[in-house]
Amino acid sequence: MTDLKGLILSGGKGTRLRPITHTSAKQLVPVANKPVLFYGIEAMADAGVTEIGIIIAPETGPEIEAAAGDGSRFGVEISYIVQDEPLGLAHAVLTAEPFLGESPFVMYLGDNLLQGGISDLVAAFREHSPDALILLTPVPDPENFGVAELAPPDSSSPGDVGRVVRLIEKPTEPATDLALVGVYMFTAQIHDAARAIEPSARGELEITDAIQHLVDGGKRVEPHIVRGWWKDTGRLDDMLEANRLILDNLTERVQGELIDSQVDGRVVIEPGARLERTTVRGPAIVGAGAQLRDCYIGPYTAIGESCRIANAEVEHSILLEGSSVCDLDGRMESSLLGRNVTVRRSDRQPRAYRFMVGDNSDISIL
Ligand code: TTP
Repeated sequence: MTDLKGLILSGGKGTRLRPITHTSAKQLVPVANKPVLFYGIEAMADAGVTEIGIIIAPETGPEIEAAAGDGSRFGVEISYIVQDEPLGLAHAVLTAEPFLGESPFVMYLGDNLLQGGISDLVAAFREHSPDALILLTPVPDPENFGVAELAPPDSSSPGDVGRVVRLIEKPTEPATDLALVGVYMFTAQIHDAARAIEPSARGELEITDAIQHLVDGGKRVEPHIVRGWWKDTGRLDDMLEANRLILDNLTERVQGELIDSQVDGRVVIEPGARLERTTVRGPAIVGAGAQLRDCYIGPYTAIGESCRIANAEVEHSILLEGSSVCDLDGRMESSLLGRNVTVRRSDRQPRAYRFMVGDNSDISIL
């Protein structure tokens, strides 16, 4: 088999994560203080896939290039491929055709997280040599996903998992609960399939249609059921859930300065962080240079570099670098603050809420 390449999709519009995505790529939002995208790059590196193309959009591409660089720090070689418009996942594959050539490849959605990485499925793909391999996971709400129908396994061949016979994008009446996970393995045949299909009702070249085209042409599309968790971080709640799942596996490390402060459980305090009269209950991470005074930081919180928190309680939240939260009455929870955001209590009269927030912001007040 020609050696496997990697394709990570980091273009797209990111409408569901506005306003964060008005100014930044959603693939760079940190989960446990590391950009989502880096988990995908590391998963590829761990599986021995070192030649990686990253699809970028003209608007957010430069920021992604600046963050991931040439890949050397991950032990991989990254090429950037600009997709002029987000016309669908199959369109992204076609855009990458000059990079991919005849190579088989693993495609990874840049805002997805997969526990346990991709080594298993790369091994299954190498071993069984199907025309394509898709990842599936049972979900409680299949109507919100691309859903797969499988043929029964061949009882005469042990270990056979059945084949994919039909893929339907967001079916109103799902035939199974098996949702497509954002990681796929393809041979070069996917290019012809992507060329053969028409845009869907939402105007995109859908990867599900391209895979269905392979199935209809008699190609062997193998399912691989994911054992660990999988998260698409495209919406706020999913981003917070991904943060929770990753923080759950944190290894304790306290390098910052603790003054009359205490940390409980799996907590990482990065170098240069300073905690005064503060309690951090893990799992939680406090980034380099952050300053926390008279605070309670609850479980599942990721505080970015150089954040400042004083007289406040924060829990189950993600704060991007440079944000500050001061003098809150109640506890802030299940929140995502972008970079350099300020949330504070003011003693100005009249006693009223005062805001300066960007488009598509979302504020809940009791
Ligand atoms: P989606 O989350 O499905 O699409 P989106 O980024 O446009 O988000 P939203 O629905 O909130 O507007 O995309 C999955 C991943 O694939 C994500 O990392 C963006 C990327 N992508 C591309 O690179 N090119 C594309 O044409 C599309 C549709 C997505």
